[in-house]
Amino acid sequence: MEINPVKGTHDIVASEADKYHEIENRCRFFAELFAYKEIRTPIIEHTPLFLRSVGESSDIVNKEMYTFNDKGGRSLTLRPEMTAGVMRSIVTNKLYANADFPLKYFYIGPCFRYERPQAGRYRQFHQFGIEAIGAPNYHQDVEAVVLGYHIIETLGLKKVHVLINSLGDEESRNNYREALRKYFADKIENMCPDCKRRLEVNPLRILDCKVPEDIEIVKGAPKLSDYLSKESKLYLDSVIAELKVLGIECEIDNNLVRGLDYYTGIVFEYHAKMGEDAKDVGALGGGGHYAHLLKDIGGPDLEGVGLSLGLERLAYIYDLIHADDEKPVFYDSVDFYVMGLSESNIDKCVSLCDLIRREGMSCEQNYEVKSIKSLFKTADRKKAKFAIIVGDDEIKTKTVKVKNLVSQTQTDVKMDDLGHVLHSLLQEYLETIYAKLLEDKGE
Ligand code: HAM
Repeated sequence: MEINPVKGTHDIVASEADKYHEIENRCRFFAELFAYKEIRTPIIEHTPLFLRSVGESSDIVNKEMYTFNDKGGRSLTLRPEMTAGVMRSIVTNKLYANADFPLKYFYIGPCFRYERPQAGRYRQFHQFGIEAIGAPNYHQDVEAVVLGYHIIETLGLKKVHVLINSLGDEESRNNYREALRKYFADKIENMCPDCKRRLEVNPLRILDCKVPEDIEIVKGAPKLSDYLSKESKLYLDSVIAELKVLGIECEIDNNLVRGLDYYTGIVFEYHAKMGEDAKDVGALGGGGHYAHLLKDIGGPDLEGVGLSLGLERLAYIYDLIHADDEKPVFYDSVDFYVMGLSESNIDKCVSLCDLIRREGMSCEQNYEVKSIKSLFKTADRKKAKFAIIVGDDEIKTKTVKVKNLVSQTQTDVKMDDLGHVLHSLLQEYLETIYAKLLEDKGE
């Protein structure tokens, strides 16, 4: 019987994996440009970590966690996000002791949410993210927005749409919650069961409701901006003004409250407006400021700010942006396909391939004798840049034929010179391809 993949999971194979590498490398590159260091935390954590951080009023904790008891009867959860684990690690490892603040970490890895699978929404997905702990002021919030923006922009998106809001300080939020309770009091009867629960636990969550009838009711709700204290307003204005100086325009979205309970102050999300019929895959990423998260899970009283990007969603827009013929030519391709024309030639090719790989170039060879025509077909299918032909004559003369499979030009190369000649042929090849790419783009 065939075993199907788990609903909401997907395999990332070959060129698709190359694309993920490309995206992850850009994330890593930018994180390092901003001086963040990598942190890797376990995929499983004790369930109470998420109850205390992501929060009991969130949909994630209420409906979406993969929680189970292990053989020792402990309640464990597959991480639905990575911020909580980073905070736990900071506490466990006392990373704050004698530290130079802010602590700055980035992470990449799988997360799990039991959501209804649809375009851009999986049950196992991947996040890249950063956290800065000991954030002194609004510049740190700006830094987080800018970092995510650059990553998305570098994937080729012309216009990253940044939504921003402030949840305000404690007093602003309490006043606003009260105003929402009053507003929804005589409307809640006609709203969904989730909203009924949300009104009790945290009325801010109602603003996130996706039920169309409820969205209509939410439209008339009091606006968070009317309840922000002077300081919170000033903070939000400062963030927006600094982002503008850095060339990033954002739109204030009064209903942006984000679905995790730990946020205080600034919250933001990145969206892509990709033309009429492009499917909305939801936010490409989001983040915000959290004043009490570290303290709430037993650490010192340090404020933080972070952001996470969804790699599946970045991969999706990457495909929409880049037509197939525009994707980097080195995707899915091997540098050299080495062809041995007889059993003994194949033996010789094993050492040749070893030499090429030691020189840091990729190659593959045939292990079975086949016709030269069929070997060239294989080289084409593998999108090899060059074929290296090794027959009896080549062995005798200690010279191999190297054929550029794009220009179809052939060069005889002495085996003793192979390393450096292959390097320069490859370099020439890449330069030609890049020049052609630039020419096609009109640059
Ligand atoms: P989040 O908004 O829940 O924030 O998730 C961040 C991103 O992960 C989303 O914008 C989306 O791109 C991606 N994502 C979420 N759920 C799914 C899913 N089911 N399938 C595919 N992609 C998904 C957080 O997780 C916070 N930890 C962000 C943060 C870091 N805040 C402060 N620091």
